[in-house]
Amino acid sequence: MNNLEEIEKYAKENYVPIARKQTIDFILSLIKEKNFSSFLEIGTAIGYTSINVALLNKNINIVTIEHDLERATIAKKNFIDFHLDNQIKLIIDDAMFVELNQKFDLIFIDASKKRNDFFLNKFSSNLNEGGIIIIDNMNLDDFWIDAKIKKKEKFHKINDEFKKELLKKEEYNVQIREDIGDGIAIITKK
Ligand SMILES: C[S@@+](CC[C@H](N)C(=O)[O-])C[C@H]1O[C@@H](n2cnc3c(N)ncnc32)[C@H](O)[C@@H]1O
Repeated sequence: MNNLEEIEKYAKENYVPIARKQTIDFILSLIKEKNFSSFLEIGTAIGYTSINVALLNKNINIVTIEHDLERATIAKKNFIDFHLDNQIKLIIDDAMFVELNQKFDLIFIDASKKRNDFFLNKFSSNLNEGGIIIIDNMNLDDFWIDAKIKKKEKFHKINDEFKKELLKKEEYNVQIREDIGDGIAIITKK
């Protein structure tokens, strides 16, 4: 796929969850405003957000992690089709076990929603001073196309618990913006 509309269409037709436009616009404006030059994404899916970030500025260094081989293969092909495979490094692995030495200005956590707290703890050491972590889907509205009610309830409970705990964390400033996309948490280190 070599245009963004085609990726959006594929995602919709194949039930691949990708960040909403409003969330991506927020990420792009943050990168511009803060002059950020590095971006780490946990949960690539088919590469939509990474491609949007890369297209903003060819000097932004991007690392993105995806464990689903089928999606990662499509993402890799998309990066090649957009001629962005030199700019975007795709790690095909479970992010729970990926160790990175590099630091990033912006970290976007958008993988398994049950693992938000784990990924925040794990990758916060990869944040540059003055950097920002964004966690997507704080409202969990994008996930329930055909899920059973019991499953929905369970996930909402886990998510509500996570939100509560997140706001209590003393080491971070946390702002939850439920009005952006599917709700995002904006996190900086104190
Ligand atoms: C919401 S989608 C990501 C969308 C992408 N950030 C975008 O906006 O284009 C979440 C992705 O995270 C991946 N994922 C979930 N748990 C993961 C893990 N432990 N390690 C790596 N990828 C994971 C899923 O396979 C899925 O493709």
